[in-house]
Amino acid sequence: MPQLSDRHFESVADLIQDRVGIQIPAGKRTMVEGRLRKRKRALDIESLSAYGRHVFEDGHLAQELVHIIDCVTTNKTDFFREPAHFDQLRDELVPMLRRNGATHGRLKLWSAAASTGAEAYTLAMVLHDMAMAGHALDYAILGTDVSTEVLRVAADAIYPEDVLQAVPPHFRRRYVMQARDPGWKVGRIVPELRARVHFKHLNLMNAQYPVDHDIDIIFCRNVLIYFDKDTQRAVLSRLATHLRPGGFLIVGHSESMAGAGVPGLEQVSSTIFAAVKGAVA
Ligand SMILES: C[S@@+](CC[C@H](N)C(=O)[O-])C[C@H]1O[C@@H](n2cnc3c(N)ncnc32)[C@H](O)[C@@H]1O
Repeated sequence: MPQLSDRHFESVADLIQDRVGIQIPAGKRTMVEGRLRKRKRALDIESLSAYGRHVFEDGHLAQELVHIIDCVTTNKTDFFREPAHFDQLRDELVPMLRRNGATHGRLKLWSAAASTGAEAYTLAMVLHDMAMAGHALDYAILGTDVSTEVLRVAADAIYPEDVLQAVPPHFRRRYVMQARDPGWKVGRIVPELRARVHFKHLNLMNAQYPVDHDIDIIFCRNVLIYFDKDTQRAVLSRLATHLRPGGFLIVGHSESMAGAGVPGLEQVSSTIFAAVKGAVA
């Protein structure tokens, strides 16, 4: 099957490393080519090598960048993924923030590599459930991602039934609306939760993030693994400046090493870090 030229594959890999921080080793070439093939079909370009020329020689990089990013990012996510974090959120982190007086106002959470929104809506379900149980909680959730395609799905909040199977039945009954026609086999997150969750485009590689600096809890899970060590550290240091003192940053279980020794953060468990009081934003 016709491929990208070696030079154009390297250009894609360099571009993605530079702009998004994701390393694409040679072993991922077939996967990247498979995904870019869909894009070249959408443009009605006859071959991948012609697509490479279109992007890197004929001056269409600016228009294609967003699509190349959509193609190469790995967006795997799930509702209630790594479920222990949501139990800790309910049983330990939110009660701790409440004891410290942080929840007198609105609890602010940020899903910093939100993908299609499952993590952000899981947070909304857990917090809404706490509020219903009499915890008098007000909350707002921000979801951000570098891929525009996943953000569209996140904002629509419509998911296939098999994806929604990961939502525990009592939450599914309360927080997922069934499609009018059961043949569609999709469900949508209820408006009450959608009103609490907002999504916007944000590249964690940027030197500054246009996000408040008094976030209570940041989830940054299953994205750091794609970055090299220096980038992981730089991203976590920047995220730390967005936490209120005593706020929490949560990384994925395969990323527990990334936060060790990051300025402004203190490790409280293998995947949970607290913002050191007095750290400068
Ligand atoms: C594997 S998903 C993880 C989703 C969710 N956090 C979870 O744990 O289920 C990783 C997400 O990180 C996003 N991502 C990759 N590089 C990024 C960057 N530089 N800035 C922001 N998001 C990025 C990808 O687009 C993808 O949606």
